[in-house]
Amino acid sequence: MTQQAEAVFSAEQFLQSRHSVRQYVPGTVISDEELNELLELASLAPSSWNLQHWRFLVIREQANKEKLLPIAFGQQQVVDAAAVVVVLGDLEANKVAEQVFADATPEIRAQMKQQIDGAYAGNERLARDEAIRNAAFAAQQLMLAAKAKGYDTVPMGGYNPQALIEEFAIPERYIPVVMLPIGKAAQPARVTGRLPLSHQTIHERF
Ligand SMILES: Cc1cc2nc3c(=O)[nH]c(=O)nc-3n(C[C@H](O)[C@H](O)[C@H](O)COP(=O)(O)O)c2cc1C
Repeated sequence: MTQQAEAVFSAEQFLQSRHSVRQYVPGTVISDEELNELLELASLAPSSWNLQHWRFLVIREQANKEKLLPIAFGQQQVVDAAAVVVVLGDLEANKVAEQVFADATPEIRAQMKQQIDGAYAGNERLARDEAIRNAAFAAQQLMLAAKAKGYDTVPMGGYNPQALIEEFAIPERYIPVVMLPIGKAAQPARVTGRLPLSHQTIHERF
């Protein structure tokens, strides 16, 4: 087997190894350094116009994790995980265009800004779709980064978004996309299957 083929094979196994873990070893500490490594890797996710629509609301203090429990309808993983990262989507991601294109020529920067602001202007639906779509890429990448560093995760949509916004003072600019406990597995994940590829895939056209 060539080196390249081996690498492809192990990446495949790695992808197969991520499962949603719902029971974590309580009291596990994830250091700033480890956490930042995960977030840096997650931030390599692609995004439209490279606007990086995600924000990571990191919750590690036990008292704050306890506050998440009723918000997440009693799902214990939010308390026992080492950290809960709430991935938020930026509804005003167009505002960072200047910064993203800081190294471009003034002409390119102005052109990109015009294009992006044009797309966002008066288009709340687009802003929301973009926020959710792009933040979801970062969330997936964060789960894989965590797995690569020996942690497990479970993506969660089962929480009350309004209660979350109020409790953690999330500004109107941001929309909660997914809640992501990260921790050391106390119990393995439930085995899940997938629907057949023939259900999932449409070739060429409907
Ligand atoms: C958007 C989204 C929301 C989810 N919400 C929850 C949740 O609130 N609680 C939970 O235990 N699992 C939740 N899950 C995890 C799914 O149940 C899980 O991904 C699915 O059963 C497939 O299993 P696997 O992740 O182990 O492959 C969610 C997954 C996604 C993608």
